[in-house]
Amino acid sequence: MIEIKDVSFTYNQAEAPSLSQVSLSIREGECVLLCGKSGCGKTTMTRLLNGMIPDFYDGALDGQIRVKGFDPVNCSMYEISKVVGTVFQNPRTQFYTVNTTSEIAFGCKNYGWPPEQIRERVMQAAADLHIEELLDRNIFELSGGEKQKIALPSAGRSRPRRTMWWRRRNRPNAPN
Ligand SMILES: Nc1ncnc2c1ncn2[C@@H]1O[C@H](COP(=O)(O)OP(=O)(O)OP(=O)(O)O)[C@@H](O)[C@H]1O
Ligand SMILES: [Mg+2]
Repeated sequence: MIEIKDVSFTYNQAEAPSLSQVSLSIREGECVLLCGKSGCGKTTMTRLLNGMIPDFYDGALDGQIRVKGFDPVNCSMYEISKVVGTVFQNPRTQFYTVNTTSEIAFGCKNYGWPPEQIRERVMQAAADLHIEELLDRNIFELSGGEKQKIALPSAGRSRPRRTMWWRRRNRPNAPN
């Protein structure tokens, strides 16, 4: 699902590359922990996968990246955000709303889903993560861990199969 081949990246005006000749392959369903000392390039790797490089962070890039068939470097943010979601180290910096339910719904609203589908998606995500009691709360009154639990479904694009089936049948050209 994620294929990275011989990737090197140097931020603009940096003296040394932040990533040098990195290759890795991650299959669907695998949970991979990327670890290493501070400054070794973990965040830079996530920026390559979610399209922030080169859209937001410019620099010299070599190598090949594929995420579910997409090339995050050459496709639009709108396209890559269908398959990649990012939860930041500090989730407080990524919220757009002040209400937990609205926050989980935010991404789907941007894709123009019908309200009943968004409601279903929010309830399903809350059930999957056992966070029903966190719905309809003020985000700023949550603990740090609870904020992360809201950031996760808000960043994620996964949803029940029946929702996908409904969408294909009723809106065949809608974004996945
Ligand atoms: N916007 C930037 N411009 C120039 N250099 C950068 C930029 N962001 C990161 N770097 C440099 O790239 C290297 C990798 O940084 P990165 O943030 O990917 O590390 P990290 O592994 O996530 O570190 P940490 O564990 O501290 O979060 C570091 O040397 C850093 O100084
Ligand atoms: Mg980091």
